[in-house]
Amino acid sequence: MSEKQAALEALRRETEAALSTLLTPDQTQVVFGEGNPDAPLMLVGEAPGPQEDREGRPFVGKSGQLLERVLTELGLDRSRDVWISNVVKVWPTRRQGRSLRTRPPNAAERQASWPFFEREVRLIRPKALLLLGGTAAKAVLGRSAVRMRDIRGKWLETPFGIPALVTYHPSYILRMQGMRPDEAERLLAEFRADVRAAAERAGLLAPIHTETTDAGAE
Ligand code: URA
Repeated sequence: MSEKQAALEALRRETEAALSTLLTPDQTQVVFGEGNPDAPLMLVGEAPGPQEDREGRPFVGKSGQLLERVLTELGLDRSRDVWISNVVKVWPTRRQGRSLRTRPPNAAERQASWPFFEREVRLIRPKALLLLGGTAAKAVLGRSAVRMRDIRGKWLETPFGIPALVTYHPSYILRMQGMRPDEAERLLAEFRADVRAAAERAGLLAPIHTETTDAGAE
């Protein structure tokens, strides 16, 4: 085990011990990041959902499947090429009748998770961050509000000194698929382009050059 892997393992144990105080009988476990610790690209989501809570791994539910599909289409592998994590490390739940639903993480969950997320980023030291959705964007960029239509697809500075690209959360694309399939197709194309751009910036993919021909010149 490399020094970095050992440090990450120690951080995982510390994170689990500290954040298990947030768990209620409704949640199973704290969900730490996973992937290649030496990956040049880190994907950052919001918080685990029900399946992530059960399995103890980030992005293994429906959102994760969409993310993995796009990575695969681009020739990328989630365990080889990226580190995947969340800014909040416990499943935020609310009761609706007898069932448990996912809600946006509250301030207590965000604040308790932040120091561990911060240390995780500093240990991984990726070349680029891809921020999936508004919650990840606000947390990492240190803003109280973001407008996705203004910041999506743009490279932004972060306090980590690592450039970040903001894109949609896959769950937003999935929700849209059920409501407005045409719009969902557009979002998915933009999402794919953003994942590609982030992978290019991280050096995982060669940039696509579009040849410009000077058709009018003699
Ligand atoms: N949504 C997230 O933001 N993170 C996960 O790990 C799963 C779903």
